[in-house]
Amino acid sequence: MAIASTSDLALITGASGGIGATYAKRLAARGYDLILVARDQTRLEALAASLIQQYGVQVKVLRADLTHADDLQRIEDEIINNQHITLLLNNAGMSVAGEFLSADIERINTMLALNILAPTRLAHIAGQAFKARGKGTIINIASVLSLIHENFNGAYNATKSYVLTLTRAMQRELAESGVQVQAVLPGATRTEIFDRSGTPINQIPAEMLMDVDEMVDAALVGLEAGEAVTLPALEDLALWQEYDRARGAMLPFLSRNQSASRYR
Ligand SMILES: NC(=O)c1ccc[n+]([C@@H]2O[C@H](COP(=O)([O-])OP(=O)(O)OC[C@H]3O[C@@H](n4cnc5c(N)ncnc54)[C@H](OP(=O)(O)O)[C@@H]3O)[C@@H](O)[C@H]2O)c1
Repeated sequence: MAIASTSDLALITGASGGIGATYAKRLAARGYDLILVARDQTRLEALAASLIQQYGVQVKVLRADLTHADDLQRIEDEIINNQHITLLLNNAGMSVAGEFLSADIERINTMLALNILAPTRLAHIAGQAFKARGKGTIINIASVLSLIHENFNGAYNATKSYVLTLTRAMQRELAESGVQVQAVLPGATRTEIFDRSGTPINQIPAEMLMDVDEMVDAALVGLEAGEAVTLPALEDLALWQEYDRARGAMLPFLSRNQSASRYR
């Protein structure tokens, strides 16, 4: 499918369902042409057809398993070669059921490839390309679990902490470049991720589970407001600001030429 040269073009990973498919609908409604990336070609084609029909945008499907180096390279090449791409949504991800020690290490290995390696390479290439073009948007989907160290699967949480840290470093590197970078930290959101990992969604209290439309709409409001980090569920934003301020206040004291007096 040809892509119009005049429109903004968004590349979405993990676009075949859940959060990624919802972003695809919202961005199409805003007039974005789209490149949809995931493994399930049938679902991607069905979504593409409905977006073309409903919004009159142009949609290209790229089937890729982002845990496979060759497939990932094809998506990187697309970002390098397609000058019209102005938005990257780094969304594809998976979780692993159970706590770290009881989880299958091979699934953890796949998760590290999908949740860390793939978004790192895509953010790296898009950050360079967008900086050179003087404009662009990178949205990295992290999770509130990036802030939670003690519970759930520590390896999954850590992949999302990685995404948050990387995003904030990119924000500093890309300041004044015309490129916007946002980290989105959803809480539990009603998608297939729970079924896929074997975590029963009905174990999550209803008051903690957000519908995916509401989550994505909030994240897009955050993007349009220029937020660096968007926490769709957090009512009292001062809690996050205080947390982040405390982290910043610690920084000058974390690396010194002698140990703290309590260790001497
Ligand atoms: N739902 C939540 O509660 C929640 C909360 C916080 C953060 N998140 C994050 O949000 C992102 C989206 O998750 P979701 O909830 O929308 O999950 P989902 O419904 O399971 O969707 C995951 C998407 O990633 C794609 N994907 C999975 N493995 C892939 C692979 N190897 N290569 C390429 N694409 C792959 C899937 O498509 P195919 O199967 O077709 O490849 C699908 O489109 C993830 O990064 C997740 O960690 C979710």
